[in-house]
Amino acid sequence: MTAVVVHGIGALCTCDPLLGEAPGVIPDAALVARDGVIVYAGPEAALDRSDVPRDALEVHARGAAVIPGFVDAHTHIVWLGDRGDEYAQRAGGATYAEIAASGGGIRATVRATAPGSVDELAAAGRERARRMLVNGTTTIEVKSGYGLEQEAEMRELDAAERLRQWQDLPEVVATYLPLHTTPDGPRDAYIDDVCTHGVAAAAKRATFVDAYCEAGAYTVAECARLFTAAAKHRLRPKIHAEQLSRTGGALLAAQAGAVSADHLEHATNTDLEALSKAGVVGVILPGASLVLGGPPPPGRRLIDAGCTVAVATDCNPGTCYSESMPLMISLAVALGGLTPAQALVAATAGGAAALGLADRGILRRGLRCDAVILETPSWVDVGYHLGGDIVASVILDGRLEVPSKA
Ligand code: NIG
Ligand code: FE
Repeated sequence: MTAVVVHGIGALCTCDPLLGEAPGVIPDAALVARDGVIVYAGPEAALDRSDVPRDALEVHARGAAVIPGFVDAHTHIVWLGDRGDEYAQRAGGATYAEIAASGGGIRATVRATAPGSVDELAAAGRERARRMLVNGTTTIEVKSGYGLEQEAEMRELDAAERLRQWQDLPEVVATYLPLHTTPDGPRDAYIDDVCTHGVAAAAKRATFVDAYCEAGAYTVAECARLFTAAAKHRLRPKIHAEQLSRTGGALLAAQAGAVSADHLEHATNTDLEALSKAGVVGVILPGASLVLGGPPPPGRRLIDAGCTVAVATDCNPGTCYSESMPLMISLAVALGGLTPAQALVAATAGGAAALGLADRGILRRGLRCDAVILETPSWVDVGYHLGGDIVASVILDGRLEVPSKA
């Protein structure tokens, strides 16, 4: 048995909607977990000592705030190579679409990643996943998408599985992203192969399927075909929609019963209302919005449409090279119009919703104990302290995985 008790929490931000005003703060609190599950999350004064297992590791928060571990519901961390040169070209005026059209962009990463072995891919992903944990992230979604050719795509998913087995990393949920960049050969033959052999092979390795619905990438009809084929293998859809232009991907997400629609900068309010009605989570990726310089992430518009909102890093070599959820929370507030409380909930409970996970993202008895002890008594600092070092320690599945630096 492993057990941990955190005493002296100045503000326990449960992100529990049952506790009223977000982010559901309990002052002067304690948190107790046994075998990865929360057995107490409430006022320290009401803690019954018999709820604390005898061998529990005792941690003292010294008045700091504690929040749920971040759930980063959209990442592309399994890649090889480097696109710093493109970042510099874009700073000089070249656009993301121009670089992609001239053979760079996602294709450049495919050239570097596709030949990689599972060991090489897992090692590259591991470094990034570990930095995510140090920044307070306890669950990550990991997409394929840089293999293109089927065996290389499967190596990416096998690398994601390798990451899942490492106990000192955030928990991994894998997504098969076969429609990302387009193939050199005939695209219909490629899509045929994906919709037959690809989804069958991916079903053993992934939970979700994803597609990049965009001018220059894949059409709504092609993405719809993938989702239909994937449904036969119980892969639920996610979609990169309305990122660089409006193509109809959000409405497809609503029709196809997608778990989430991601990016959405060019989505109309009608699109967002359709997502809300269909129960599709809207995932904003404010780091990518910032780097690409288009319209802002539609955080406030999603809330106004009644959607559940998630905020994620999109960590990838092209549009957002960042492992930091606290930075994304800052950007969700500064660019996306969310309040600090809405942004914190979007990075925790919202991320869990975008992965269909009902057992985390909220600090409540009976749920998984993934939590971050902050350096500060004020949870607002997560978004307010831009680029600040706000994570003191991290509890992952009920174990103290990143001990305090103090
Ligand atoms: O989510 N939009 C497509 N995919 C990624 C970018 C991938 C890349 O540039 O390597 C995104 O922004
Ligand atoms: Fe992405």
